[in-house]
Amino acid sequence: MPAAPLSLVPLPAKLTPREGMFQVTPLTRIQTSPALHGVADLLRRYLRPATGMPLTVVEQAPHSRIAIALDPRLAVGDEGYRLTVTPEEVLLRAPKQSGVIHGLQTLRQLLPPATFRRAFVPGMDWKIPCVDIEDRPRFGWRGSHLDVGRHFMPKDFILKHLELLALHKFNVFHWHLTEDQGWRIEIKKYPKLTEVGAFRSDSMTAPRTRDPALRKFSGKPHGGFYTQDDVREVVRYAADRGITVVPEIEMPGHAMAAIAAYPELGNTGQHLEVLTYWGITEHVLGVGDNVLRFFEDVLEEVLTLFPSPFIHIGGDECPKTEWRESPAAQARMKSEGLRDEDELQSWFIRHFDTWLAQRGRRLVGWDEILEGGLAPGATVMSWRGEAGGIAAAKAGHDVVMAPQQPTYMDHSQSELATEPQGIGGHNSLEDVYRYEPIPAELNADEAKHVLGSQGQVWTEYMPDPKRVEYMAWPRLAALAEVLWSPKDARDWDGFQQRLAAHLERLAVLDVNYHGRWPKPA
Ligand code: ACM
Repeated sequence: MPAAPLSLVPLPAKLTPREGMFQVTPLTRIQTSPALHGVADLLRRYLRPATGMPLTVVEQAPHSRIAIALDPRLAVGDEGYRLTVTPEEVLLRAPKQSGVIHGLQTLRQLLPPATFRRAFVPGMDWKIPCVDIEDRPRFGWRGSHLDVGRHFMPKDFILKHLELLALHKFNVFHWHLTEDQGWRIEIKKYPKLTEVGAFRSDSMTAPRTRDPALRKFSGKPHGGFYTQDDVREVVRYAADRGITVVPEIEMPGHAMAAIAAYPELGNTGQHLEVLTYWGITEHVLGVGDNVLRFFEDVLEEVLTLFPSPFIHIGGDECPKTEWRESPAAQARMKSEGLRDEDELQSWFIRHFDTWLAQRGRRLVGWDEILEGGLAPGATVMSWRGEAGGIAAAKAGHDVVMAPQQPTYMDHSQSELATEPQGIGGHNSLEDVYRYEPIPAELNADEAKHVLGSQGQVWTEYMPDPKRVEYMAWPRLAALAEVLWSPKDARDWDGFQQRLAAHLERLAVLDVNYHGRWPKPA
């Protein structure tokens, strides 16, 4: 790194500073081919408001150009890029469009933080330091998970979050769309999922307690959902920024909002309310053919909305109490030759693994899907530590590491009493920064099954976007570096220095990151 380090987050794989600067002027043009016109236009929209420069997109610019090109000969992988800045031109090349998109984010970070303003900033010199960067990610799954079931988050906030993810070169947004406390995605065939399931009468509030007698409530109804048009907008916006949206439809547990809407999906036929408190409920999906058909129908619509190769079906925290007592569930176990209720859950998950595979998609689920036998095509998201991920990788399954320590961002960021209500312990920024997604227990071949990792934001105690941002940032910036930058480039002191400058960008972008204000907001 140069004496005055460029404050890039995440740190590029290879960076050589050069002498001089490229000056963005009213004559600067963005040069590209028709295939990259959309990406060039994104760059123009990024840079134009604050700089006030026209930055017209053209196919040939004789001088002062920012040139963007596809170059299949560059050996930097699907998401890598090469960025060369000289006083005469900026040249951004990548084999694939996703690499170009990541390169644009680096380019934005080479300009002053004021670049991120959405109106003209007078008196600025728009200079890009000369540099040669060759960059590619360490991991192919760099994710951010957001639970919109416990608290609905408005579409505009989802778009803002995606823009921030893109800035940090994340490429997966795991959208946790259904919960006991709310069903958040419109399904045309089953309108009551949102008419009934997207709204609840009340919400539990802090302090966190497992004792029903001590629970406190807001006294206010809560709800909301995304229409299919909203979803298409989000998916497109993400794709334009190199991000795949992985939807999660929870089954067979965490599905009480669906059962409230359609009681025949449960085990008892009992009419239930959308849940108003947090925790694990014993009310889970039944295992009848009607339930399988219903969720096939739901997924049919989900597949038309989400091009993601991976579809998340949840699979976590499914108590077996109702199945033990249900004659229908017991009959299913008998007819399928299943020894216990864990195997019944496996049978359920296997059904959807096959169903998704027949449609060219891959099932991903939380690590409980290991219990009772893992479905053949399943990818495991290891959240109860890394043991599930290790077992799955050793068995030849792909794995996404999402252990509570340190990737759960509903845990507080420090031990200070001033932190807002969290869940679990605390995961500091440094804990996240020092995380190593490849466990020592895996040999080189097994380690190839670790696709990457992601940060989890569960929103029981995050009623609004401001609180989500407070919990997510800057920890996601640290995770971005863990997942993108080379392992041997990890440097906590250097990261803190770069982060100090990076936080200026986040402040301009109005991110309510931890530490921005004297008191938590
Ligand atoms: C989880 O935290 N229940 C995946």
